[in-house]
Amino acid sequence: MPSLHAEVLAARRRSTTDADWASFEARFEVEFPRLKDLFSRIYGEGSGDQLALLAVEAANSWQDRPAHLKAIDAARAQTPDWFSSNRMLGGVCYVDLYAGNLAGVRAGIPYFRELGLTYLHLMPLFLAPEENSDGGYAVSSYREVDPALGTMEELASLAAELGDNGISLVVDFIFNHTSNEHEWARRAAAGDPEYEDFYLIFRDRHMPDAYERTVREIFPDDHPGSFVQLDDGRWVWATFYSFQWDLNYRNPAVFRAMAGEMLFLANQGIDVIRMDAVAFIWKQLGTACESLPEAHLLLQAFNAVCRLAAPSLLFKSEAIVHPDEVAEYINPGECQLSYNPLQMALIWNSLATRDVSLLDQALERRHATPPGTAWVNYVRSHDDIGWTFSDEDAAELGISGFDHRRFLNSFYVNRFPGSFARGVPFQDNPRTGDCRISGTTASLAGLEAGDPGAVGRILLAHSIILSTGGIPLIYLGDEVGQLNDYSYLADPAKAADSRWVGRPPYQGGRYSQMEDPSTEAGAIFSGLRRLIEVRSATPEFAGGHLLPFFTNNPHVLGYQRPGVFDGEESIILALANFADTRQDITAGTLSGMAPDAVDLMTGAIVSLAAGRSLDPHEVVWFRCRTGGGRS
Ligand code: GLC
Ligand code: GLC
Repeated sequence: MPSLHAEVLAARRRSTTDADWASFEARFEVEFPRLKDLFSRIYGEGSGDQLALLAVEAANSWQDRPAHLKAIDAARAQTPDWFSSNRMLGGVCYVDLYAGNLAGVRAGIPYFRELGLTYLHLMPLFLAPEENSDGGYAVSSYREVDPALGTMEELASLAAELGDNGISLVVDFIFNHTSNEHEWARRAAAGDPEYEDFYLIFRDRHMPDAYERTVREIFPDDHPGSFVQLDDGRWVWATFYSFQWDLNYRNPAVFRAMAGEMLFLANQGIDVIRMDAVAFIWKQLGTACESLPEAHLLLQAFNAVCRLAAPSLLFKSEAIVHPDEVAEYINPGECQLSYNPLQMALIWNSLATRDVSLLDQALERRHATPPGTAWVNYVRSHDDIGWTFSDEDAAELGISGFDHRRFLNSFYVNRFPGSFARGVPFQDNPRTGDCRISGTTASLAGLEAGDPGAVGRILLAHSIILSTGGIPLIYLGDEVGQLNDYSYLADPAKAADSRWVGRPPYQGGRYSQMEDPSTEAGAIFSGLRRLIEVRSATPEFAGGHLLPFFTNNPHVLGYQRPGVFDGEESIILALANFADTRQDITAGTLSGMAPDAVDLMTGAIVSLAAGRSLDPHEVVWFRCRTGGGRS
């Protein structure tokens, strides 16, 4: 492709130094062939024009990239596993709800540091329709910040300031759909053929009916099926809300346009982009239109574009689907990071059942990820909790997936006798039996119900995400035990979406108690802070390598984190009691561990020779040398 190479060479500006340009060219040699190959697999041979435009755009974007970001690119190229450190800790919040605006986020930096955050995910902060915006997940312009929150310049300077404080900035890349108020959508609605082809718009029900035979409903409370009707009678694909129109990635111009938006964001100083709703981006008649092979090719192509022009930008996959499918997005050439919805759901499962077998099984067979990747582990997100475990895995343990999901749903919405949880159903679909759960960590764990085990459960749940490897992600406000917020029911734009119950505004009252451990907020905060401190002082918790540990007690989860401490091989043994009663681990069970272990929470040297009892919801982390004669 000499001519294309010539075009890219011609994009070089006089001001660009030789060394800087050489670094681009070196990456071009490697990444461009990869991109070209992906393009031809997705689009066939007729897409060369778009590819050429994209290559030139990448060259321009690199030259526009601020010097301080290029310095980060260079540093991270030397330490590609920077995100695997045991000091990595994430927080996530809505800018408006948590901090009012970007200036408020900036003012929060001292607190984020105190908590130990090194990663901050600000939920969508782009221009979006005023009322119906799905909490910002309906984007009207990727290049404008919602004026109520601030400006793009402020976002860029916030990114720099966070970076100076050791905190990476994560924002969403909502690339499956735009809002119906996006310029492209407006033009499509007006009948401009160039932009009609940016979406999936059909004159009549023929194709929508054909697709809907095999596609599942995501937001059935909003509209049945996957299409909504426009005023002029046409139908547009809308997987989520009717005002979120799916982009048509069969059109290479859409890929190029979105790649441009991605590079624009990257150059504002974003470290990680959260790839929203990855499973849905490619549609194929006769299939479920989820996690199709082309979805992966598209992500790899976006990844290649990034490596060219914003080499240190990482992707985090948001695939809330079957665990086999979740795993397919995780690799260094696609998404380096991924939410771990299985671990999240199974933490809640174990809290409800007081049985750890499903979680134990998941740690054993579904925890390992390829080198150069990591999980983002979380207790809950801003979304619903869906029971995404594999029915086949459950069947091996004698559990019927369908019946068990029904139990979990009734438990978490307090329709099960004795439940401690106060969740709210989300998208309860009586036709399919599908239902998910909304609520804050504290309300789901029993704090709202006044259950005496609540604080212990909250800390236990967080201990799992803090010690299994990868990046733990705290939903800000949960560290002081924020409760469900039912005020959404009074807002017509939110009332039908129960996820808002779990998105309270900043809880000033609870934060004011965080230093007083006699309060619930203080007990949760001090317990969590201790876990965070211990983790960050424990190098064995870096990376994701985990070995199962069978406790011979169905209520107690065990796992081991091998590593190196003080120049010697070492293993952390984690035990977590999910029961509301005291539980014993026998001496025999612990006999493989050298008897003198360090209890990391207290620093004391303890003997495991006689076994160990755990209080209700107690978590222990022991630094051991394994038996094998190394004591
Ligand atoms: C993601 C977001 C969710 C949103 C959906 C559509 O799953 O987390 O909040 O509703 O995408 O953008
Ligand atoms: C998205 C939505 C979530 C939904 C899921 C279904 O992740 O945010 O609410 O459960 O898709 O796959």
